[in-house]
Amino acid sequence: MSDRHLDRIRRAAKQAEADGFDALLVAPSADLMYLAGYDPPPLERLTCLVVRPGTEPVLLVPELEQPRALASPVGDELDVTTWRDGDDPYASLAPLLAESGRFAATDRMWAVHLLGAQRVRPGAEFAPGSTVLAKLRSIKDAEELELLSRAARGADEAFRHLADSRLEGLREEEVALLLGSLLTETGHESVSFTIVGSGPNGASPHHEPGGRTIRAGDPIVLDFGGRIGGYCSDISRTVCVGEPPSGFEEVYDVVRDAQEAAFRAVEPGVPAREIDDVARRVIDSAGYGDRFIHRTGHGIGLEEHEPPWIASDNGEPLEPGMCFSIEPGIYLEGRFGVRIEDIVAVTDEGAQRLNRASRDLETVA
Ligand code: CO
Repeated sequence: MSDRHLDRIRRAAKQAEADGFDALLVAPSADLMYLAGYDPPPLERLTCLVVRPGTEPVLLVPELEQPRALASPVGDELDVTTWRDGDDPYASLAPLLAESGRFAATDRMWAVHLLGAQRVRPGAEFAPGSTVLAKLRSIKDAEELELLSRAARGADEAFRHLADSRLEGLREEEVALLLGSLLTETGHESVSFTIVGSGPNGASPHHEPGGRTIRAGDPIVLDFGGRIGGYCSDISRTVCVGEPPSGFEEVYDVVRDAQEAAFRAVEPGVPAREIDDVARRVIDSAGYGDRFIHRTGHGIGLEEHEPPWIASDNGEPLEPGMCFSIEPGIYLEGRFGVRIEDIVAVTDEGAQRLNRASRDLETVA
């Protein structure tokens, strides 16, 4: 049994009530992992934790998954009920839901399950679960902060090893494989993504590493991460193989200044969009505003992208315990890209960088 998880379920019920919901439907996802420590794969078979204000929570699972559900951290505390193959799982879900209630369903519930729930409760209103759960999940507790710091330090170390390696002559996909094994060696239990954008490929922010061979004079955008203890790392650095091409250093300095200015702007009470504004103003005033083609950052935790969004449309105030990326970039088509990304945590006074890798331009071999 896990008091931590039961406490989270209780807080989720309270938050759902405060937000005017009759129940929270939690499908297999980071939301279920967060609330119950239970991590079954999402399946065509319905699994759903139903959290209701004022009533005990119920975990509805397919009968064959019952032993697993009972073995989970909250298995002996929760009411675990089952449905059997051949029966209608939504008929088992229906009695747990008020006739014409308001329900929040986790963002990652499969459409087939949400549509099934809507079929048995046609008079009900459904909303995204993140409207409730982001308020809990975006504030990290001490244990979560420790895991995010460990993940960030592992990613820093992987970057250090990579920057000390010889990259000239390797294909992007080989560098991506190397990054993957470095993430594993630095304590990650899994690798989530390894972006390697060399030369002109760096101008595509999410470039898929391919067969391009890295040459002298190439800038390389590296963006990679994995998981430690279930929590994600995510770091970007842009390095250059030998002498940088003309104009590169100027662009690099603009991105580094934007990243620094945004970091310095972080403190409790500041709206998330202000961090985006600050980064954007630095890049705008250098004349590259229209080449900064994405938001400044995203929250991170059990998922590599989760609220809070550090974007122009998010007026939510920052709070101590929030963790997110600050990753401005400039992308020049046909030439190169530059992105610098650290994960930061909001503290009582300001912010702390979880990544410590140098942000100075690294020349690699
Ligand atoms: Co990121």
